[in-house]
Amino acid sequence: MAFKTIIEPFRIKTVEPLKMSTVAERRKYLKAAHYNPFLLHSSQVIIDMLTDSGTSAMSQNQWAAIMQADESYAGAQSWERFYSEVSDLTGCEFVLPTHQGRAAERILYGYLGGKGKVFISNTHFDTTRANIEFSGAEAFDIPCRESEDFDSDYPFKGNMDVNRLEKLLKQHKKNVAAVIMTVTNNSGGGQPVSMANMEAVAALCKKYKVLLILDCCRIAENAWFIRHKEKGYADKSYRAIAKKMFDMADGSIMSAKKDALVNMGGFLTLRDKKLADACMGLLIITEGFSTYGGLSGRDMEAVAVGLREVFDDDYLNYRIKSTSYLGDHLRALDIPIMYPTGGHAVYVDAAKLYPHIPVHQYPGQALACALYTLGGVRCVEIGSVMFGKYDAKKKLIPARHELVRLAIPRRVYTQSHIDYVVEVFQEVRRTREKAKGLKIVYEQPFLRHFTAKFVEL
Ligand code: F0G
Repeated sequence: MAFKTIIEPFRIKTVEPLKMSTVAERRKYLKAAHYNPFLLHSSQVIIDMLTDSGTSAMSQNQWAAIMQADESYAGAQSWERFYSEVSDLTGCEFVLPTHQGRAAERILYGYLGGKGKVFISNTHFDTTRANIEFSGAEAFDIPCRESEDFDSDYPFKGNMDVNRLEKLLKQHKKNVAAVIMTVTNNSGGGQPVSMANMEAVAALCKKYKVLLILDCCRIAENAWFIRHKEKGYADKSYRAIAKKMFDMADGSIMSAKKDALVNMGGFLTLRDKKLADACMGLLIITEGFSTYGGLSGRDMEAVAVGLREVFDDDYLNYRIKSTSYLGDHLRALDIPIMYPTGGHAVYVDAAKLYPHIPVHQYPGQALACALYTLGGVRCVEIGSVMFGKYDAKKKLIPARHELVRLAIPRRVYTQSHIDYVVEVFQEVRRTREKAKGLKIVYEQPFLRHFTAKFVEL
């Protein structure tokens, strides 16, 4: 007997109160935050869908492990437990603990990069691209063609375009520093990557003798899609699927703030001793000694336990189904989303929802503001505020899409929270003609979305 209701596979032992507010109060808060949800105080937010990064609720076993942490400077037992879990999962001998994902990126891509070097990815996450470009190297995104169609039910829109990969490998030859496969493809809508695509990419990297790095921060979520949507994996465990992917890579970079179910942490793993030694030197200079890097003993304990828990059948099933629950309900309301729903977030097509707001008045930012004002829901614009550039005449060159991401923190919200978000969208839809565009009145030259100030038009 299969029941339809997806229950959270946990009960709640500690609670964090949410502060309720009214529409009138939120209008005031948003104005004071210059119509940028990043500038709101978290206490002014009811449901926070800004990110799934570092926002997980930890389990009783993670908290218990934290109490056993060994904070010795060198050779701590916590390091041994962390090393044993990470090396077992990734199959890599060399493990470098970092304070979060981008620190691992800075070390590896800073070392491999530099002027004239090239990196190729299904889609570089923004910190990945920033670290590569900061080194002077160039970053190419080659998502598969199917990812352009938001409505088709193609199950692996996170894939890399293999034909373009081979062309780039031929064209740039020895200058290719690494190929980076991001699973799931966060900047590409949280869409999964198939095992077949990983195999094809790994074969090309081998043929052209290029390093293949897995950006694995959502690899457990990706494994769910392989098991349920790709032929031949229905009877494999999620962990076995993830291990098979790791086996094909020369190393991995992980922001543990996602699928390791912790609030802070990350790592870099490598198979090659020479490369690992060079990175270790940089780790000790900028993060910390090799047996803790950027982490305390407690952080390493929590990661070691979280990396096991994330592959639990009941957890992953609840996780992916509850994300698609939100996606399906929004579609039923005729809200345009990137379909099928990915693993950690729902991406709404704001340009389609607000056809009366031109791109240079930022429809995505307008939607983020409406969601906050109407329901206290905070999310992030992924469109021309985040990725737009100016031409020589200061005219906006828009981003490829005007999206809004509703990222779902892990083990934090219940189904009634999500039902509430769906209801807020009902109101967004009903009042959509009233939504107003915005104008930027203050911005920084880089990563402007974090601090930009707007006025309503
Ligand atoms: N790679 C991917 C695919 C990511 O999604 C992130 C972070 C990073 C690397 C960097 O890791 O934050 O630990 O330094 N993504 C967060 C997000 C910030 O909201 O999607 P970090």
